[in-house]
Amino acid sequence: MNTEEIMALALRLAGLSEVPADSQIYYPGERIKKILIGLDLGSAELQLAKSLGFDLAIAHHPQGGRASLNFAEVLKNHIRQMVQAGVPREIAEAAIQERLFEARVSAHMSNYDHALSIARLLGLPFMNIHTPLDEIGRQRLAEVVGRAHPELSLLELVGLLKESLPEFRHAQTEIDIRVGQPQNMIGRTVVSHGAGTNGGYPVAKAYFEHGVDTVIYIHCSPGDSKRLREEFQEKGKNLIVTGHIASDSLGINPFIAELLRRGLEVVPISGIVPG
Ligand SMILES: [Fe+2]
Ligand SMILES: [Fe+2]
Repeated sequence: MNTEEIMALALRLAGLSEVPADSQIYYPGERIKKILIGLDLGSAELQLAKSLGFDLAIAHHPQGGRASLNFAEVLKNHIRQMVQAGVPREIAEAAIQERLFEARVSAHMSNYDHALSIARLLGLPFMNIHTPLDEIGRQRLAEVVGRAHPELSLLELVGLLKESLPEFRHAQTEIDIRVGQPQNMIGRTVVSHGAGTNGGYPVAKAYFEHGVDTVIYIHCSPGDSKRLREEFQEKGKNLIVTGHIASDSLGINPFIAELLRRGLEVVPISGIVPG
């Protein structure tokens, strides 16, 4: 396979028709047989990949180039997800303004060519696949949540997630009930994932104020978690945080399985929990 075919495979598995703004072939390659894949692969790991004889390094998170510079674009997936859940469009758009600003300013500050320049120097094919793999993970989470009766408790939903998705049993983190009592009913539940990064306080607040009882994030900062708890715990709202490493692995493992099925050798590192 070549790098284009590998990107196309990820898109097909995710059900996407084009490469999202946060995913990129930085340095293309042909006749790929041996792949190093990880959540974060920077210049040191590229050197390692080269010295161990890999033909391609695939990072999940953006490592530079336009995947980092245009990262803010994929945050707009939050708008579509919120509107789908019944949040009015103006409120959904307002809820991500802060995140958009932060992402644009951070990207503008970043050394977008650091790891990429190392790949070019080594002549090592290098790419990152972010949103397509998160979309696969989101679908797996949403499938389980879709089977959960609204009268289930938070604790029972956590149990169902662990029972259905082996990554949660294999990870060293637990699924965290960050806001709400374990015995609360889940009620109306949304999986908020596959939109660049978590929507933090404003996105969860928009869901809570428009009929959603339980929000599922894969990660959430300490400050946003604290604000959500202070403001919504008393109101019977709930936030479940499934864990970054386990949840990114949910999307990556089905992709690895397809690469293996095509006869490629794939070595997972940097936080990929087995499925
Ligand atoms: Fe991810
Ligand atoms: Fe991630």
